[in-house]
Amino acid sequence: MCGIIGIVASSNNNIVDEIIAGLEKLEYRGYDSAGVAVICSDRIERVRAAGKLQNLKTKLESNKISGSVGIGHTRWATHGKATENNAHPIMSRDVAVVHNGIIENYKELKFDLQKEGYIFETDTDTEVVAHLLQREINNGCSPLETFKNIMKLIEGSYAIAAVFSSFPNTIVAAKYRCPLAVGFGENIYIGSDINSMSACGEVVYLEDGECVEVTGDNALFFDTNFQPIEPKRQKVSPDFVNVGKGEYGHYMLKEIMEQPSAIRRTILSNKIDGEIFNGVSRILILACGTSYYAGMVAKYWFEKFLKIATDVEIASEYRYRHPIIGENVLAIAITQSGETIDTLEAMEHVRKNSNSKVIAIANVRNSAISRISDFIFYTEAGMEIGVASTKAFTAQLTILAQMAFCNHEFLIRELQNLPTLCEEVLSSSKEIEDLAKKIHTANSAIYLGRGSLYPIALEGALKLKEVSYIHAEGFAAGEMKHGPIALIDDNIPVICLCPHNELFEKTSSNIQVALARGKNVIIFSDLPGSKLLPSEATKIILPRISEEFAPILHVIPLQLLTYYVALLRGTDVDKPRNLAKSVTVE
Ligand code: F6R
Repeated sequence: MCGIIGIVASSNNNIVDEIIAGLEKLEYRGYDSAGVAVICSDRIERVRAAGKLQNLKTKLESNKISGSVGIGHTRWATHGKATENNAHPIMSRDVAVVHNGIIENYKELKFDLQKEGYIFETDTDTEVVAHLLQREINNGCSPLETFKNIMKLIEGSYAIAAVFSSFPNTIVAAKYRCPLAVGFGENIYIGSDINSMSACGEVVYLEDGECVEVTGDNALFFDTNFQPIEPKRQKVSPDFVNVGKGEYGHYMLKEIMEQPSAIRRTILSNKIDGEIFNGVSRILILACGTSYYAGMVAKYWFEKFLKIATDVEIASEYRYRHPIIGENVLAIAITQSGETIDTLEAMEHVRKNSNSKVIAIANVRNSAISRISDFIFYTEAGMEIGVASTKAFTAQLTILAQMAFCNHEFLIRELQNLPTLCEEVLSSSKEIEDLAKKIHTANSAIYLGRGSLYPIALEGALKLKEVSYIHAEGFAAGEMKHGPIALIDDNIPVICLCPHNELFEKTSSNIQVALARGKNVIIFSDLPGSKLLPSEATKIILPRISEEFAPILHVIPLQLLTYYVALLRGTDVDKPRNLAKSVTVE
């Protein structure tokens, strides 16, 4: 949540355009407002705008600023409305700050600062940071000393970068529980993620409590005790920078279309040895949102094929309900970003309260989850920019399938066919586009599935909600009769996932029951000829594969359906309202 960037140019070049280009890459982290501040001689010049980055760009056309040292921000609002006044950079007299995270003790700090005469002009928690830094500058501290002193005072999570008018060549930045990297190219870059650092060959990921001072072409790093350190520079993977939309109008469609290659790469780069399950009597999966649904699918697979009891927990609930962890537990975190604070905290809880092994499945390399996991499996989906997760989800399912089927050679072999079958599904996107015309005016939609298709029903409904803003609910098809069936009438689309598996007959009966109450029933199935699939329903036929892989094949048309519905409704597909790509606040 929130993207921050800072650039110290190696020459006197104006870096405003480069900051904006960086913010474009970071906008997926939040798009409630944006702003930029640069040092111009010994003054800080700042331009901010509410709403998407485009508003800031428009403002900068008539309000030109220029400087070779500066910071930028794209916001996902936590404290204070998404107004221009609350947009970052936030300033005190001689200091401008950009911040990602939450200062949890900001009220106490604000109270003290107000008593000392500091005037607060925003509703943000970040403003205390600006005034605290200013107070240190007033006391004669250097930029680095200001950070050293204030990091003892602030509590919560943060990635902060600041510029100081009296130190015009310097940016200082620090992080705690929010990501921050320093990139080395022609200039030195500071950013929430390396996606904004396309001009960098090498990068350093800061650890919690570390700080960096960049002056000219020199970056000095400090550990939690403010002792100098020389962290290892890492090469930047091209998959995670220079990510564009290519021939597609939206990242979401591009990423849906990339699924065959993401799955293929994921299969090739992960070999799962069944030994990781030796001695394990229970698997505990921790995740949020779409990643949680991947975990739910895995529960069906793990219990059936590994014969290990598996619990899947919503990470934001898990650690607050005093869970009993038990012995011989393998904890698996699933997270695209590797940054989701709820998932990180739940994993920390397991680490601190048990001797369980904790492993992770993540997409973003070097993200925070890698530092708290004993081992990490990477999905090879490449950078996912669309806020709604698509290719990361099927790549997660791929690794989970590799784990579940590690002792079942036939299934592992069949997994190799999956990318080609996904291509086949994607090639019939026109059919799904037509289907979208049948449901895009609905106010509400129902998704039904049984067994491992139940989580896919939940995922289909989540996608529709977040991108098209149509209210949608996923249900276990057998659960309909216990209440939700009351919702069905002729106006509500009922989307049924009915692959040919051991529950096919049961699901098809549930479909009949739905059809008896509403006329807009849509079936996704890989059994075209079955008499059990009612002719009155709209049918989308998918290619056949072992029933175990049906969740992966069935989710793809649901993603496409969401995309085309959202297009028809004119929503901002890649940046749906109120959302942000990585959720670093609780
Ligand atoms: C939905 C979506 C979210 C994420 C969730 C967890 O499309 O993207 O529900 O799945 O916020 O994020 P990660 O996987 O990064 O931990």
